[in-house]
Amino acid sequence: MIFEHIEPAPADAILGLTEAFRADDRAQKINLGVGVYQDDNGVTPVMDCVKEAEKRLVASETTKSYMPISGTPAYKAQVQQLLFGEAHGVLEDQRVRTAHTPGGTGGLRVGAELLKQLRPGATVWASSPTWANHPGVFSAAGFALKNYPYYDADRNALDFARMQETLSAVPAGDVVLLHVCCHNPTGVDLTADQWAELGKCAARQGWIPFLDFAYQGLGMDLEQDRTGLLQMAAVVPEMVVAHSFSKNFGLYRERTGSVTLMAENATAAQAVFSHLEKIIRVLYSNPPAHGGQIVQTVLADADLRAGWEKEVAAIRDRIQRVRVDLVAALKARTDKRNFSFIAQQKGMFSFSGLSDEQVQFLREKKGIYIVKGGRINVAGITPANLEYLADAIAAALTVSE
Ligand code: LMR
Repeated sequence: MIFEHIEPAPADAILGLTEAFRADDRAQKINLGVGVYQDDNGVTPVMDCVKEAEKRLVASETTKSYMPISGTPAYKAQVQQLLFGEAHGVLEDQRVRTAHTPGGTGGLRVGAELLKQLRPGATVWASSPTWANHPGVFSAAGFALKNYPYYDADRNALDFARMQETLSAVPAGDVVLLHVCCHNPTGVDLTADQWAELGKCAARQGWIPFLDFAYQGLGMDLEQDRTGLLQMAAVVPEMVVAHSFSKNFGLYRERTGSVTLMAENATAAQAVFSHLEKIIRVLYSNPPAHGGQIVQTVLADADLRAGWEKEVAAIRDRIQRVRVDLVAALKARTDKRNFSFIAQQKGMFSFSGLSDEQVQFLREKKGIYIVKGGRINVAGITPANLEYLADAIAAALTVSE
């Protein structure tokens, strides 16, 4: 027997919190763990444009046959246009190939498997801190991971000087994982100038940028959020991008994402993409269709697309409003710490600066679930729970520093 005497695996750092939250029967409990958007009523809505696309799909669908290994040409073209903008030179030169993957996580894993095949000895460099699932995804593909400095906890800001210093010594052929916007977990992003500096560093050193782009549209807007990607594409010959429609389409459970390869020329792009397709074939054969068909339908229809852009803007605006409200609510309760940096951060998350002890206090005593390290999902805060949350955080600050 091989299942005997096996110790249970530890709970997932993010999704495990949702399990614990569900099992908690306190009425005032709040889940600020997993990065899932909620509206003012605490509901994770299905977007109107998605509902409409689904109606059309149900009416017009004629088959449930397999998808192509890398998804449909229409979906792939839509993804590429969102990433690079229409008529970008790298698209016209056919240097870019995209595969539809099960979510952004699928895109990361498939991209990691490809790089491992091509560069078995490479090290993957991730920001400190980074998304709790990044180390798992890349080590599952067989990579050794190292960290580069990113966040200065004393200043609640980017530590660009130290980041650049470390990345300037990363050898050719290593992989550097970068968050294009709405850095997870800190909410602190690079400026356009800093991306330009980083691009020069990548080109000079020869490391491969692996861009994780899971929050397009939730930072500044759909165009501005891709600044880092465009800056990189302008100066490096090759890169990999994992992209997700979980957040900006609210398609979390439909697992709708992609991985995109940019090569030095069309011949190289085609050849390397054929290896990516082999990897997909043995992992999950071909992607789930429904989410991709929704995205394809919305983005190809001018009215639905305009509706989608408005809905994304509404999500972004609400999160920004909540940031401001949270800062004000905390300021009214405590002068132990200045939380104004929370209003400057971008995307769903705020790196609150709460210690692990304070996070534990909030969970045990208040039923408030926050990821270890102090990451708060700002989108989980509503008018109904803001006051309770602010009281609880103020109480947590008196427990320890
Ligand atoms: C998060 O960071 O909470 C989201 O990306 C959801 C996940 O899969 O962890």
